[in-house]
Amino acid sequence: MAGDKQAETTVPAEVREKHARLAEQIEEHRARYYGKDAPVISDAEFDELLRSLQALEEEYPELRTPDSPTQKVAVEFKSDLAKVEHRSPMLSLDNVFDDAGLAAWAERVQRDVGTSDHHFLCELKVDGLAVNLTYEDGRLVRAATRGTGQIGEDITPNVMTIGEIPHRLRGERVPRLVEIRGEVYFPMEAFQDLNARRVAAGEKPYANPRNSASGSLRQKDPKVTATLPLHMVVHGVGVLEGFDGPSRLSGVYDLLKTWGLPTSPHNRVVDDLDGVREFIAHYGEHRHSVAHEIDGVVVKLDEIPLQGRLGSTSRAPRWAIAYKYAPEEVNTKLVNIRVGVGRTGRVTPYAQVEPVTVAGSEVEFATLHNQDVVKAKGVLIGDTVVLRKAGDVIPEILGPVADLRDGTEREFVMPAECPECGTPLRPMKEGDVDLRCPNARGCPAQLRERLFYLAGRKALDIEHFGYVAAAALTQPLQPEDPPLKDEGDLFGLTVEQLLPITAYVLDQDSGLPKRDPETGEEKTATVFANKEGAPRKNALAMLENIEAAKQRPLARVLTGLSIRHVGPVAAEALAREFRSIDRIEQASEEELVAVDGVGEIVAKAVKEWFAEDWHREIIRKWKAAGVRLEEEAGEDRGPRPLEGLTVVVTGTLEDFTRDGAKEALQSRGAKVTGSVSKKTSFVVVGDNPGSKYDKAMQLKVPVLNERGFGVLLGQGPDAAAEVALSAEE
Ligand code: IVH
Repeated sequence: MAGDKQAETTVPAEVREKHARLAEQIEEHRARYYGKDAPVISDAEFDELLRSLQALEEEYPELRTPDSPTQKVAVEFKSDLAKVEHRSPMLSLDNVFDDAGLAAWAERVQRDVGTSDHHFLCELKVDGLAVNLTYEDGRLVRAATRGTGQIGEDITPNVMTIGEIPHRLRGERVPRLVEIRGEVYFPMEAFQDLNARRVAAGEKPYANPRNSASGSLRQKDPKVTATLPLHMVVHGVGVLEGFDGPSRLSGVYDLLKTWGLPTSPHNRVVDDLDGVREFIAHYGEHRHSVAHEIDGVVVKLDEIPLQGRLGSTSRAPRWAIAYKYAPEEVNTKLVNIRVGVGRTGRVTPYAQVEPVTVAGSEVEFATLHNQDVVKAKGVLIGDTVVLRKAGDVIPEILGPVADLRDGTEREFVMPAECPECGTPLRPMKEGDVDLRCPNARGCPAQLRERLFYLAGRKALDIEHFGYVAAAALTQPLQPEDPPLKDEGDLFGLTVEQLLPITAYVLDQDSGLPKRDPETGEEKTATVFANKEGAPRKNALAMLENIEAAKQRPLARVLTGLSIRHVGPVAAEALAREFRSIDRIEQASEEELVAVDGVGEIVAKAVKEWFAEDWHREIIRKWKAAGVRLEEEAGEDRGPRPLEGLTVVVTGTLEDFTRDGAKEALQSRGAKVTGSVSKKTSFVVVGDNPGSKYDKAMQLKVPVLNERGFGVLLGQGPDAAAEVALSAEE
């Protein structure tokens, strides 16, 4: 149910800059107002600033990120925590949003320091809560939040509970006084658990991990903080007395590490701007292989004397800059929670949100898995919610911005009946929270989804047979009787049956009718005939393609039957072993389990599927229509040069689809799996590979690029091993 239409990010760098500047000003005024009781502008002027920011966000909704001042309620200083003044101000950072901005900053640095003999220290911009730790004679005497930058809140007892933060600095050259600055963060996975516990205890859920870090650190009772998995990364030093330290910031970090402070393993010193660009590009792709959330990269001049030459404005140092990535989290309105029915009958709530662009694509729907997840996230219909879309991951709702509620929000109630056929829902399994519609044959939604899958790339791969066709054939407005009662009728379809069909044009992401953008009316169409009533070219081509699909390999036919737990891999294993649908039907559970790649769950599901009369009827009809339901004799696929290998494919390949790559491997006898382990023989890596690449490196599994993949297919594993990358090199 994930809406994800690719759209490039549309916000020009100047607008981002203007937005960031305005946001920063507003934050400062808020901090003065709430924190110091010393506002410097009138309320009206403040409101004007906020309005300008809102106007920008109206025009560019992508800018409406959860940390925008339009989305936050100024609660920071309403706490009872004692205020503390920082010995030296905790500055902020100027931002750039593209390469031009970065280059302009580097040029200014070069001009102002008057030498090109310098280095850049690249760090990750940790999305957490800034803290200031004061150590006197090596003892942690105070920990404070950043607050206004001048004045923060005393959170010493809470910070003391964070295991990574030493109470005493150990080792050599510990100074008399030092302020250590860093970011405290809350790991993403733990965040979801925390929210579920808060909701269960009747507390407001947090909108995102950053807010939960802040909430955890500002707990009244440090015993509570102690139970939470907080971590810290050091990113700077404030006042430093009684100490003559290294002349490079990277050297200072090395020293801090010897004192027991948690420095980042990701920092890198580079010689020039190209090195910076490489760092930025690398972490742009591997944003999620890092334990904490990051929202950009911080580039710093590494030479401390040169930093001094450049100095700082009252707000930010001139010797550092933050390069911000496009946000992966935005706020949007939860318009409704709907319920969708999948091809196996599973009934899933999903969120319909006001469409927003996030991480480069437009999102309108996000899955919510089941009613317990809705409850655990604590979201109400009408809430402003934080929506996250991380890279190619399915969009998800993190949580509500509970402070923006106005009382009109309402709770979601899971229906007791199937929204499409009215049949009472049942648990997937006894005692399960996941529900399903048991009306597998008669439920139009299930048939529609099964047909769409059957015609899809993993199964029969019938071109021109998409979601609209699947819906039209199963739920026409006219004629009243759908031409397909179930998938058994697929190969008997005629052009005469198709022509009169009028149907809603359904959206694949939501299963809802698409609407005309101008009139707002639901779209209907004579799907297979043109206005004159003549068959559309597509429709005729589709019938030809259906005919051609009768010759698909058995494994694809099996996959297309939507037998629970039987995906392409299990289907391939079954087809390879039994070579005909009849033999699969006749096989006992023990015989099925004996097949390599088939477990008990799959075996049971296969037996259950064939036990249904109407399922066997599908097979009978297909057979009568001439569908090839066995691998022909002598169709031995010849030598299987990759037998015994286990291969993982990750990222985008240029010359293969993911399924194409899998098939090429499987037809040569290799096993294809989804996760990297020590037993993996090769990991094939395309563009944007994500964490599987890192895992392969970590486990020293040989990695093949697309060229190496070609070598594996063409010349076998030994030749491939020669061209593989491996962590040892
Ligand atoms: S340096 C004087 N380095 O980002 C230099 N800040 O938007 C100021 N932050 O207030 C900070 N990761 O809380 C620095 N590697 C990093 C950082 C980082 C996160 C935060 C920090 C700062 C904010 C500015």
